[in-house]
Amino acid sequence: MNSIKWILVALVLAASAFGLKAGVDARQASERDRIADLGGKHLRASYSPLHFKPAIDTATDAQCLACHKEVLEDKPRVASPAGVRAADSIAWYQLTSTYSGEQDGFHRRHLVTPMATKLMKLSCTTCHQGHDPREEAQGGAADTTPQADSGFTLRKQVNPETTCLKCHGQFPAKEIMGLPAPWKEARDMFQNDCLGCHTAIRSNRHQVSYLNAEAIEAAAREGAAKKQGGDVCYGCHGGRAWYRIAYPYARNPWPSMPEVTPEWARLRPKHSELRFLTTAASKTPGAH
Ligand code: HEC
Ligand code: HEC
Ligand code: HEC
Ligand code: HEC
Ligand code: HEC
Repeated sequence: MNSIKWILVALVLAASAFGLKAGVDARQASERDRIADLGGKHLRASYSPLHFKPAIDTATDAQCLACHKEVLEDKPRVASPAGVRAADSIAWYQLTSTYSGEQDGFHRRHLVTPMATKLMKLSCTTCHQGHDPREEAQGGAADTTPQADSGFTLRKQVNPETTCLKCHGQFPAKEIMGLPAPWKEARDMFQNDCLGCHTAIRSNRHQVSYLNAEAIEAAAREGAAKKQGGDVCYGCHGGRAWYRIAYPYARNPWPSMPEVTPEWARLRPKHSELRFLTTAASKTPGAH
């Protein structure tokens, strides 16, 4: 009796192992097909018209996210494979008074974190202006992206000079603002508040579609009571500088703008980039 029971058990095990193996084989086969892209679906999607001009100019975030929702879903690892915990390796910018939450991904920090949604209104196409899946460079062949297209730069999918640098450049304290020292050293002199000067100077600012101009001013005024107003502004104007240069901002005319243009500003544009500008470019006729 006992031996028959064991033979039955062995048969059941063998049958299910066979079933499991068949399942694994089928799954591996479909994975192979997917990777080989036999249906050409992946290749077709890589060349989606939404990646290129002119369609990218009118693409909505929802259209991009239909294929790329991972950019907002992926989260950094809790610990690296070598065991270093994210919570224990904090970068300097994560110690500022304006930083909140756990370590998070690049796309999430610009699109969904509390600060991103309060002060900014970035969309995919603020940064992404097209890329070239084949050459990753302009002008590689007659039928690829033309040389004149500056929507991205070599082997990058965005143009950092016209995007990142706007909020991650240096603070030109001495060169342009005439401050006695870099902001970190000079800020106590000004109660860590930029508005002392900037209520009157360059006051027609942030009139662009990807920023919440009013929320930025309100946050800085609110912070001023705790001597943290400057942190709000400095966060985008030197506090998170990934570059050694400053962005050459447009000088949108402001009410008490001096008649004479300083030497350093001679070649500066007189209004923000047209694709972002939200108000009439200039109040003074003939200014641009
Ligand atoms: C129909 C689906 C689809 C849509 C819609 C789509 N993409 Fe893509 N995208 C892809 C595929 C597939 C790739 C190629 C990915 C790969 O080969 O790793 C790709 C590649 C990219 C890349 C380059 C990735 C790399 O590593 O080279 C970027 C950046 C990108 N898409 C951004 C966007 C943006 C921004 C939008 C909206 C304007 C958008 N995509 C719309 C499917 C899509
Ligand atoms: C603040 C600017 C910025 C915004 C806003 C932005 N991206 Fe990106 N994105 C980048 C940069 C920079 C890279 C890396 C480019 C590179 O490697 O050359 C990137 C990479 C990507 C990639 C390649 C895969 C990856 O994760 O590296 C995809 C896909 C992508 N972005 C889609 C999107 C979509 C969809 C949106 C809108 C929901 C979006 N991006 C918004 C700057 C931005
Ligand atoms: C409109 C302003 C703006 C632009 C444009 C911008 N950033 Fe940022 N960036 C911010 C702000 C604000 C934060 C802080 C967000 C927070 O603390 O939640 C930030 C945070 C970051 C971080 C830290 C992310 C983290 O995990 O804490 C990196 C890295 C970064 N930006 C890189 C870039 C790059 C690269 C580009 C260009 C593709 C870019 N940024 C464009 C404003 C900007
Ligand atoms: C002592 C007065 C003073 C203080 C304090 C001050 N600024 Fe300025 N800032 C100026 C002057 C003056 C200019 C140049 C005005 C012009 O365009 O003629 C300027 C210009 C700028 C510009 C434009 C730079 C360019 O290249 O076009 C930015 C951005 C700026 N300030 C941000 C800030 C931020 C952020 C703070 C606080 C962290 C701050 N400023 C504190 C006086 C000041
Ligand atoms: C979320 C990021 C962010 C914050 C916070 C921020 N700025 Fe800006 N600032 C920008 C960007 C981006 C531009 C360029 C906009 C454009 O293209 O005209 C800019 C432009 C400026 C200019 C040049 C304006 C012109 O048109 O002449 C000044 C001055 C300035 N900011 C001062 C400040 C001050 C003062 C604060 C705090 C009250 C502040 N910024 C906070 C991102 C920011």
